[in-house]
Amino acid sequence: MRRPGRIAIDGPAGSGKSTVGEQLAHKLGYLYVDTGAMYRALAWLALQEQSDITNGDALVQLLHEAEIVVSRPTVDDGRQYTVTANGRDITWELRSAPVALAVSTVSTHPQVREIMRARQRSMAAQEQGVVMVGRDIGSVVLPDAELKIYLNASLEERALRRHTEQVERQGSEDGLPPLAAVVEDIRRRDTMDHDNMRPAHDAIVIMTDNLNVSQVLEMIYSYLEE
Ligand code: DC
Repeated sequence: MRRPGRIAIDGPAGSGKSTVGEQLAHKLGYLYVDTGAMYRALAWLALQEQSDITNGDALVQLLHEAEIVVSRPTVDDGRQYTVTANGRDITWELRSAPVALAVSTVSTHPQVREIMRARQRSMAAQEQGVVMVGRDIGSVVLPDAELKIYLNASLEERALRRHTEQVERQGSEDGLPPLAAVVEDIRRRDTMDHDNMRPAHDAIVIMTDNLNVSQVLEMIYSYLEE
């Protein structure tokens, strides 16, 4: 099997890129970097500090003042990585509804993106092997990545996956938003994320509607075998 040093996986919310990316990184023994978590950490900080999330310069200042660290998981509780902000473990808080609502706005500011992209490049440069997932990895962050994958799925399928994931994590549907609300939430995020979504022209596009995680991984392995 080929072992490309840098693997970029991009795709919209709910396309399965985190699950696939993490398992691929595990199989290859590479570092897994979820770049969405970096934007979410900044959104979390902004909410914490009551900063104006429409003010890009204020967010940049926040980013410079705070210490956000994304690392391999430090606790065995099902997490894919650990994120700390000024030493506080905020990994699970990044999944909260207020963060999900704020993050699209936070990630629209070009000056914020420049800093995040530089950090992402430097994380990749320090590793022998990295699987980096996001929206603009193959096109902007690591344009010379040796393998680029773009995962996609229909809106309904992505919403169903999100909903099922939430129900499984909680063990019941109690208090969770109904599927129709999840569809609307993903639709809203697709619209907001649209401008930052940059599929690389040389990415391998995989439509995952009728594929489970193992099947998607098998397809990626087959490209590595070529
Ligand atoms: O993948 P996610 O849902 O955790 O991403 C959170 C937000 O960050 C989403 O609004 C898109 C944005 N994002 C981005 O603009 N660029 C990336 N490389 C990763 C995420």
